[in-house]
Amino acid sequence: MDLKQKTYLLVTGASRGIGREFAQQLSQRIEALGSVVVLLGRSQPLLEETKGTILKQNPELSVHTYALDLATARSEDFARILKYSQVSSADFQRAIVIHNAGTVGDTSKRAREIGDTEYLQEYYHTNVFSAIALNCEFMRTFAGIPKLVVNLSTLAAIAPISSMAHYCTVKAAREMYFRVLATEEPAPDTLVLNYAPGMIDTQMTEQVQREAHDPAVVAMFREQRESKTMLTTAQTTQRFLQVLAAQRFQSGDHVDYRDPVEP
Ligand SMILES: NC(=O)c1ccc[n+]([C@@H]2O[C@H](COP(=O)([O-])OP(=O)(O)OC[C@H]3O[C@@H](n4cnc5c(N)ncnc54)[C@H](OP(=O)(O)O)[C@@H]3O)[C@@H](O)[C@H]2O)c1
Repeated sequence: MDLKQKTYLLVTGASRGIGREFAQQLSQRIEALGSVVVLLGRSQPLLEETKGTILKQNPELSVHTYALDLATARSEDFARILKYSQVSSADFQRAIVIHNAGTVGDTSKRAREIGDTEYLQEYYHTNVFSAIALNCEFMRTFAGIPKLVVNLSTLAAIAPISSMAHYCTVKAAREMYFRVLATEEPAPDTLVLNYAPGMIDTQMTEQVQREAHDPAVVAMFREQRESKTMLTTAQTTQRFLQVLAAQRFQSGDHVDYRDPVEP
């Protein structure tokens, strides 16, 4: 992935956790003048912090922040953000979207207990519908230039995990959307990666450890945190960059942190 080219980079959930680290690390590597970085999340102050760090590392970049709740966001919101964030620049040679924002849902409930359709609607809107809507606007806006589409996936998208009926189902649906996209849109014009980052020390894993109904799941998270085998956001971002540099994956593949980068 050539970040020497004039790049448009959009990261959702850039206010903290993995999204913040991805945004910072990728921005650091963007070299071309006129490149634009767009950071989405709900917390404007935290987005501004991410922006400040990026500009300290790379003052030439144009960095835009937009506070937006993905639980209610609509296609028009994404269309507006994509339009306004390009006002200061045009003629990008590459566009990258990192669909990172996500929530773990209610892990205190068993699969047989999650039938509240109001909750499900909001949860699916946040984690699936908004990602699809943003992606459609992104594909439309950047038709004709090379695009990298990254979905933050997880082992839970491909394996059932007790306490995680909400999370497993949205992650499976979201990953399948991006796999279908990859079958329809030819690489290298559109390159799709479902990246599973491993188990990372963020607010999300703290929440699971606090709330999961299954004691075995709580114990597993606690053990990994206490033994410091849980990864840092920096470690998984480093691996993600290696995966991109090696480019051994086929468009649409699910690549896990633990997979060997080289065959
Ligand atoms: N941590 C792990 O071990 C792990 C493992 C596998 C996959 N993942 C995936 O990696 C991604 C990031 O996870 P993380 O651990 O970094 O989580 P995190 O620390 O909880 O951060 C989640 C990010 O998503 C944003 N977000 C949450 N709800 C939102 C909403 N309604 N509207 C807009 N933005 C929202 C948050 O920003 P605001 O609060 O500012 O809105 C925040 O920036 C997720 O997709 C997750 O499923 C994580």
